[in-house]
Amino acid sequence: MQPEERWQSVAPDSTKSIVEAQSSSNAQFRPLHIGVCADSSDKGCRRRATELAGRLGLSLVDADDGQHGILLAFVEDRLELRLCECRGPNPLFVDFANGPLGYASRINRFGMLFQAVGFRSGRPRVLDVTAGMGHDAFRLAYHGCEVNAVERSSILHALLEDGLARAASNPELHAQLGDRLHLIHADARDVLRELAPDAAPDVIYLDPMFPPKKKSALAKAEMRILRQLVGDDPDAGELFAMAMNVARKRVVVKRHRHAAALAPSPTHSHGDKTTRFDVYMTGTNRG
Ligand SMILES: C[S@@+](CC[C@H](N)C(=O)[O-])C[C@H]1O[C@@H](n2cnc3c(N)ncnc32)[C@H](O)[C@@H]1O
Repeated sequence: MQPEERWQSVAPDSTKSIVEAQSSSNAQFRPLHIGVCADSSDKGCRRRATELAGRLGLSLVDADDGQHGILLAFVEDRLELRLCECRGPNPLFVDFANGPLGYASRINRFGMLFQAVGFRSGRPRVLDVTAGMGHDAFRLAYHGCEVNAVERSSILHALLEDGLARAASNPELHAQLGDRLHLIHADARDVLRELAPDAAPDVIYLDPMFPPKKKSALAKAEMRILRQLVGDDPDAGELFAMAMNVARKRVVVKRHRHAAALAPSPTHSHGDKTTRFDVYMTGTNRG
C-alpha cells in the first residue's frame, strides 16, 4: 500500500463540524454560512457545483444569493471562494500556474524554506500538516520533494483539489511537478496517530495560524480571509508534540519573524525580515 493510501484512509471531518469548531473555539468569529453555486450556464460547472455541495453537505444556491456570507463558486474553469461582505482580494482560488501564486515566482532553490527542510542533503519526504492554500507544499514538491499535504478545512481542501487538477492539465507545470504533491483531507493529528512507522516522513512541516498582533490587522489579505474561514489553530502545540514523535529527521515550524517560537529551543532557525523557520531535529539526527 502506498503511504498516501494509508493516510487517505483516515476519515475526513465534515464541513459542518469545522464551521462549528471554528465558531465555538474562536469567539470573535461569527458562524459562517457557506453556499455552493455555479456562476456559469456551463453544464460541467453546474454538475461540479451539485457534486461539491452534496459532498460537503452545503446548500446549492444561486450565484446572486444574498443569504450566504461565503460562496464557493464554480466559474468557467475553476473553483473560487467569494467572501460576499469582504472588500479586498476577492475571489480567492488556488492557481499554481499563474499570477502571484504562480510557480514562476517560486523558483528560488536556495530560499529559507529549502534550507530549513534540509535540501543540502537531498530532497526529503515531507508531510505538510497545515496545507492552507498550498503555497509551501507546492514549492517543496515543485523542487523535488515528495509531499503529502494535510488540510482539515473542507473548503480549503476543495480549493486545493481544484488548483491541483488545473496544474495537472498544464503540460509545462505538470512536467516539473510530476506526481509529487498529494492532498489529504483530514485532521493531521489523526494522520499522525495512524501513520505506520515505515511511512514516517523525513520532515514534518507546520505553519499554523496564530492570533494576530494588534498591528497585524492589516496582515496579508489572503491571511485575513483564511483566518475568517478557519480561525486560529489553538491545537498547534499538540500537533507539534505529535510531529516530534513521528518525523524521522526534523520538524520545521514557520513563524512571523518576531513571533515567539511554538516550542522552546529550536536546533536552528532561518529568517528574513518577515518570516522565520524554526528547525527542530528529531531522533538520531539531532544535533
Ligand atoms: C497558516 S495556514 C497554512 C498556510 C500554508 N503554509 C500555505 O503555504 O498556504 C494554516 C492551515 O493549517 C490548517 N490546519 C491547522 N491545524 C491543522 C490540523 N491539525 N490538521 C489539518 N490542517 C490543519 C488550517 O486549517 C489552515 O488552513
